[in-house]
This record gives sequence, C-alpha cells and structure tokens, in this order.
Amino acid sequence: MPHSDPIIYLNGDFIHKSAATMSVDERGTLFADGVYEVLRFYAGRPLAAPLHLERMRKSLSRIGLAPPDDFDQLPATAQALLEKNSLQNAKIYWQVTRGPAPRNATFPKGVPPTVLIVPSHSDPLDAGSGVPTQTAVLTPDERWSNCWIKSLMLLPNVLAANAAHKAGCDSAFLHRDGAVTEATNANIMIVRDGELWTHPADRWILNGVTRQIVLGLARDLGITVREQVYDTDQLLTGDEVLLTGTTIHVTAVTHVDGQPIRNGQPGPVTLRLHEALARYIAGECLSE
Ligand SMILES: Cc1ncc(COP(=O)(O)O)c(C=O)c1O
Repeated sequence: MPHSDPIIYLNGDFIHKSAATMSVDERGTLFADGVYEVLRFYAGRPLAAPLHLERMRKSLSRIGLAPPDDFDQLPATAQALLEKNSLQNAKIYWQVTRGPAPRNATFPKGVPPTVLIVPSHSDPLDAGSGVPTQTAVLTPDERWSNCWIKSLMLLPNVLAANAAHKAGCDSAFLHRDGAVTEATNANIMIVRDGELWTHPADRWILNGVTRQIVLGLARDLGITVREQVYDTDQLLTGDEVLLTGTTIHVTAVTHVDGQPIRNGQPGPVTLRLHEALARYIAGECLSE
C-alpha cells in the first residue's frame, strides 16, 4: 500500500519522511557529492542485492568515500523499512553522500557520510500482462566520462528525459557522436539477425544489474550476445529495440524518433527475455 508519509531511514534512525531534516551544508545538495542505488523487492525479498551492494561499493570507492558503518546491513535495514511501511512489493532508494560541511570543494575531514534510504510501493512484474512498451527520442549524451559510477549528478539525464517528455515520448536514448550509449534510466539492447547487441560495460554506461541478469538469461536461452558499440542507424534499422532496468524490467521500444522499429510491435526476442526475467524473479523472490 502506498503510504503518504512513509517511514524512512536517515543516518541510523527510522523516522517519518515528514520529520526528516538535512543540513543546508549537505554536500549531496551543494555538489552532487554522492552516489546511490535503487533496489527492488518482490514479496518482501530483494532481487540481486549482492550486485547492488557491489556496485555501490565500487561507486563509493571511485569517489573516495569509505562505505558507511551500516553498509553491510543494507538488506536488513531495507527489509525493516518494508515491514515498518507494510510494503511487500517495493523499491528502495539508497543514497550515500559526503555529508554536511562548510562549502569547499575539497573533502572535509572527520565528517560522517549521510545515509538515506527511502522505500516506496512498486508493482510486481506480471508476466501474464505482456511486455510493456515505450517510445524514445535520440539525443546527444552530454554526461561526464564516468557513467559507470551511479552518481547523484543527474542534471544531463534530467534535461534529456525532459526533452523526451516534451517530444511526447517516454524515454531519451543517449548517443555520443552517433554511438548509442544508454537511456537516462535504463540500458538499451537491440536485436539484429537474432543476435542481442548492447554497449559494452565500460566508462560510458552504467552496468545495469538488470542488464547483467538479462544478458545471462539470453546466453542461457542460446541467444548470441554482442557487447559492442553500435550506432543510431543500426538501432533504427534493428529488428527489435528493448530497455532493461530495475524500474522497467524488460520493456520493448516500438518507435524511436517517430520511426517504427520494424513493424512497431514488440519482437520475439524481447518477449522471450521478458518472460525469462519474470521466471528469474519468481525463482529468486517468490519460491519457498
Ligand atoms: C543511466 C542508467 N543506466 C542504466 C540503468 C539500469 O540499471 P539497473 O538495471 O541496475 O537498474 C539505470 C538505472 O537507474 C540508469 O540510471
């Protein structure tokens, strides 16, 4: 059940969201000096928590921030939050920043990080209801060159997502001089001649947890996976285009820049991957 004033976790305390306060010197606000993760829970169980913890550890390490003392308790803390909010199917937003300090770009000494965890209801994946669909626009990737870090610095993503919204589309597909990287909140895959192509997990994309799971499922299904750079023409002439992400699972993309992808309908590989992901989630989170 959605809760109008949920219990959240802030620096060790479980408190109502409306009662939470943060310093105006918080470096997350002043400099976007922090990182985050979004984890999904199905029937009260987390999906792929170790992969999210590992990515958070790498993000923290790259920005020179030690993992907070409660780092390893994240799954238990999140589970406690779900119980306190009577949530079963939920996502949690987990943010760690360099904490409050007088405005100065250099790292402050002796300041504990700020840890914020906010849960919210999220519908479970319903394999029976068909694969969700989206439309997209192509737009230049204006982000920095460390996109593998799940940084709070999301202004380029916000601007691109807003441009997509203004164009009446669901998603912004980012490209660097024609090389397709990813969407603002998901990874992109294309299907060409039965093969699944996606940008390699280098510094230009976030290596999505769902991306990793779906590529594994594709290989299990005998689908050839090509982690290689492709361009906007190859995307537009692809047989299928799909997105993967914690919030959108496997989603078919039917139109890009107003052009239909093949016949503008979800394709067979996308459907197989959608069903495989639903089975995977059921096996991980819903079985006894
Ligand atoms: C830029 C970007 N790429 C990819 C993803 C997908 O990652 P994941 O599957 O871990 O949710 C996200 C998720 O928020 C994202 O923000």
